Amino acid sequence: MDSPSAPPKVNGLIPPLIYGGDYNPDQWTEDVWREDVRLMQEAGVNLVNLAIFSWSRIQPSEREWSFEWLDRVMDLLHEGGIRVDLATATASPPPWLAHAHPEMLPVLADGVRLWPGARQHYCPSSPVYRHAAHRLAETMAEHYAGHPALTMWHVGNEYGCHVPACYCDVSAQAFREWLKRRHGTIAELNRAWGTDFWSQRYSSWGEILPPRRTPTWPNPSQQLDFMRFSSDELLECYELEREALQRHTPEIPITTNFMSFFKPLDYWRWAEREEVVSNDSYPDPSDPQSGMRAAMAGDLMRSLGRGKPWILMEQTTSRVNWREVNVAKTPGQMRLWSYQAMARGADGIMFFQWRQSPAGAEKFHGAMVSHGPVDTSPVWHEVKALGREIRGLDRLAGSRVKAHVAIVFDWESWWALELPSKPSGRLRLLDQVESYYAAMFDTNVTADFARPVDDLRAYRLVVAPNLYLVTDQAAANLRDYVQDGGHLAMSFFSGIVDAEEHILLGGYPAPLADLLGVRVIDWFPLPADTRLAVRFEDGSPAEGELWSELIEPAGAEVLATFAAGSLAARPAVTRNHFGKGTATYLGTRLDRGTMSRLLRLVCGAAGVNPVIEAPPGVEAVSRGEFTFLLNHGDSAANVELGPEKGGTIQVGARDVAIVGLEIPEQTSA
Ligand code: GAL
Repeated sequence: MDSPSAPPKVNGLIPPLIYGGDYNPDQWTEDVWREDVRLMQEAGVNLVNLAIFSWSRIQPSEREWSFEWLDRVMDLLHEGGIRVDLATATASPPPWLAHAHPEMLPVLADGVRLWPGARQHYCPSSPVYRHAAHRLAETMAEHYAGHPALTMWHVGNEYGCHVPACYCDVSAQAFREWLKRRHGTIAELNRAWGTDFWSQRYSSWGEILPPRRTPTWPNPSQQLDFMRFSSDELLECYELEREALQRHTPEIPITTNFMSFFKPLDYWRWAEREEVVSNDSYPDPSDPQSGMRAAMAGDLMRSLGRGKPWILMEQTTSRVNWREVNVAKTPGQMRLWSYQAMARGADGIMFFQWRQSPAGAEKFHGAMVSHGPVDTSPVWHEVKALGREIRGLDRLAGSRVKAHVAIVFDWESWWALELPSKPSGRLRLLDQVESYYAAMFDTNVTADFARPVDDLRAYRLVVAPNLYLVTDQAAANLRDYVQDGGHLAMSFFSGIVDAEEHILLGGYPAPLADLLGVRVIDWFPLPADTRLAVRFEDGSPAEGELWSELIEPAGAEVLATFAAGSLAARPAVTRNHFGKGTATYLGTRLDRGTMSRLLRLVCGAAGVNPVIEAPPGVEAVSRGEFTFLLNHGDSAANVELGPEKGGTIQVGARDVAIVGLEIPEQTSA
């Protein structure tokens, strides 16, 4: 029986746990396809992402369609018991389209046009591109409706990855129409954009342009609207295709692959329009923070799908090809990070790509099947072993991760915060989120992400690492949450501007001052490599970096003060009792150790417990009735489970254990 939380199933045809990768058979001759299916079976592959970059093969010219080859691939896969997440193939327009309609090519802010010869060379507002992409999606849907291998639709590919915005004349016109819908009148637009500054008043819509390259900073409100517009334009491209697919194959779920914390697209709005959230994740194996960051991305994906299982759509088996130095994953790392995704709610583990390309820009990117003979490839053995394990883990499918903490995450606030000409250009939202997330990751406290306007009552603790832009609705929501007994922890430079990027006057942080019980009189951002001593009330020392500010308590108690410089003895961390709850406020970025200690205290007060007390380097996450223990360290670790769960368990270096579920025994590959 389908569990209510499982991803939508087509007549029960989506395998409970998905295993596979991007499949590009058009880069190979037909004899290789047969070998592919045989090897896929050997590796336990049950789903492939097909035809993502096949537009020029499927439609060699405007009036010519060529489906025979793809039909044969679809049939072969079906005969081999492999299901297909079929792409609409619209991510890379064919050369003929761009040559017939050069106006569909994207233009950068400085007027440079991007030419065909790579991929994603389209203006998102281009009627030519939109029409051609819709036609292709529709033709694909008509052609493959009812094909027994068709299991899911993969719309486009990584929307916005290379071209998140276009500044051409077509985009300018689309931007004006979008602005009319948002602001209604030119007078209202002038108000919203604060155009009395620097003589920017507009007299007619026709004068408005995208924020093209200007002598100095373009109007920030204009930039913010352009970011909203650009996310919406790509979303419209997605929705156009989705409409065609839904009409022809209403029973087939639809996804488009996300790119973790991808700034240009407001994924909250996108995820609402997908049956299944899917993500591409390429953590750098040489960065010790990668495990933490990949966990954070997994939590975001789960949260975007409102708790539903998601799919790790792309990762590499070994290395990528696009860093300066493409460090390979160490043995066991691919398996560990795959389990991490499952621990954080993924019901599918997939790779870019199935077979390593012989030509083209990605021929040195890792794959499930590499250039050399498979038998001599350690990666192939890892791929096969993982596939075999996943086949035995079906009980995981559909189970949910329960978090008691929510991290407030808002794309519009992110965009606004990182516009230029701020008190500090060093203040970046993801760094802020990481300073909270890492502290919780270190202590195995699981968190969801949430919008500031979401219903937060299900969470015992809400953290807002930075909410620079705050709407009245968001401020009221946070206030009500604390008033009713919730616990909030929030950092500096929050509650500063409204949705148009205008200062919320009346003393910082105007809409949140009563909730936090403080007034912020002025900011003193810190240069790189500068640390400021902080002392907690119990005498314990700490360090602040990045930011400091002059805080005037207005009801809040002081938990820590700055201990040096012109702010010495002034509050650095405060706590306010507001209604039935509390609001803790941080006026600087605390070092990681202190952040962990502080969050432990805050979690303790809110009744949030770690999943398990585990040794450093062991990540613990509960999913349904199962608890994953992931050892990121280089040596074995003993984890104390407590008497109820059977004492102590040893987890090997870069190994995983699932309490409550046996991972199938590895026979030698
Ligand atoms: C993704 C993309 C894939 C491939 C991969 C390489 O961004 O979707 O097509 O290019 O990166 O890492």
